[in-house]
Amino acid sequence: MKNPFSVAILAAGLGTRFKSRKAKVLHSAGGRTMIEHVVGAAVALKPAAIHPIVGHQAEDVIRLLTEAGYGGLRYIRQKQQRGTGHALLTGRKQLEASAPTLLVLSGDTPLLRSATLGSLLARHRRSRATATVLTAEVSDPAGYGRVLRDGSGALSGIVEQRSAIPEQLAIREINTGIYCFQTRELFAALRRLRPDPLTAEYYLTDVISLLVRGRSKVSALTCPDVTEIAGVNHRVELARVDGLLRHRRAEQFMLSGVTILSPETVSIGPDVSIGPDTVIEAGVHLHGKTKIGRDCRIGAFSVISDSTLAASASVLPSSVITESRIASGARIGPFSHIRPGCEIGAGAQIGAFVEVKKSRIGRNVRAHHLAYLGDAVIGSNANIGAGTITCNYDGAVKHQTEVEDNAFIGSGSELVAPVRVGKNAYVAAGSTITESVPPEALAIARARQRNRKDWAKHRRKKIANKK
Ligand code: UD1
Ligand code: CA
Repeated sequence: MKNPFSVAILAAGLGTRFKSRKAKVLHSAGGRTMIEHVVGAAVALKPAAIHPIVGHQAEDVIRLLTEAGYGGLRYIRQKQQRGTGHALLTGRKQLEASAPTLLVLSGDTPLLRSATLGSLLARHRRSRATATVLTAEVSDPAGYGRVLRDGSGALSGIVEQRSAIPEQLAIREINTGIYCFQTRELFAALRRLRPDPLTAEYYLTDVISLLVRGRSKVSALTCPDVTEIAGVNHRVELARVDGLLRHRRAEQFMLSGVTILSPETVSIGPDVSIGPDTVIEAGVHLHGKTKIGRDCRIGAFSVISDSTLAASASVLPSSVITESRIASGARIGPFSHIRPGCEIGAGAQIGAFVEVKKSRIGRNVRAHHLAYLGDAVIGSNANIGAGTITCNYDGAVKHQTEVEDNAFIGSGSELVAPVRVGKNAYVAAGSTITESVPPEALAIARARQRNRKDWAKHRRKKIANKK
């Protein structure tokens, strides 16, 4: 490979400011953990190797990345976290043998685009520098290391906020924590690093002034888009970055023909697809491998995970759909709960407070109000009355309910599974059905009504006499 480079990702820290038992890079923004965003950006650059430096919850980080499909990563373990410089030093042998150029990324800057990293690498090569620092001009530099430049404007060092004097604190050019190094020179400098007198940590940032003093060429690239460089040190920053990532995602969809109302409230996962002319209302969350066709409408505050909605399906507000398939023209909601394993047929209507689980619902079925359909197969054009319940569980096992085409289930019925209601059959309202109903029949399974004439009048009299 021409001029090969590798990537090191600093991801060993706990992230004390997160006040979490979970390592910082395992926290999510924009539907993905921070470390996945960073590894994703690194993979896109096609480096010779990627070396995540892991420490806190190393096994969890490795498992997560492996499950996310990132194989072939060459992990480095930093058992004790003694600073960003120390992190690289722990991987010295591996990194020195990896490639002549090393791109160093931070596990806590999930917004960085691979195109920006590509520009950094290009600048580093063109200027034949020993080190190239990605910097940014920000309005609020709080928390970041400040970039020091000499009289001629050349970079002379980086000072951490906690060690900076007031004049340095006023500097608005910050260190993004992303760098390119010539690997051999980097390690020569790292070996000369001394711990910071305040924190006793070995700062990678101190390498810059060491290199400048040793007359190595150090250059800088200012990141054109400052929104990319945000480092996440606590949960307030995490929320901000989450908002930016969600906005990026929503923008992609809007530009590809999807209408999104109040996009700042909408969350669309990285593996979701949405067809043109679909409308996504406020507060909608789309997770996992959800696929939404064209001309759909997803009502406000609905949450859809790992599900497929065909063209022209609509979901009215506040519905939850998980691991299910909804055919074209079907209408779900408001307030419907479609649990895993459902297939809802074309044109079917599932209405308010209807819960469906592991069921096949035929074409044009109507279940408009207050029903529970679990482990059921409902034929096309069947009508499920308000309050219908499939009693699918006997306390030990689940049983199936079958309702054939065009059947009519009266309101308030209980279908005690296993049971079948035949084609075109009727179940009278309020029935508890324990035996199958033949096609074309009417089943009534409830006590016969008696009206007792003048009962109320007699009762009133009786009460009056007692007084
Ligand atoms: C660092 C930079 C600062 C820069 C900022 C950009 C240093 C000394 N400072 O500060 O100049 O402006 O990033 O966001 O480098 N880590 C390890 N092992 C360790 C210590 C840290 O792997 O021993 C990892 C952390 O998990 C994190 C990354 O390195 O992913 C950066 O560490 P962090 O403590 O967040 O550094 P900052 O204080 O933000
Ligand atoms: Ca940080």
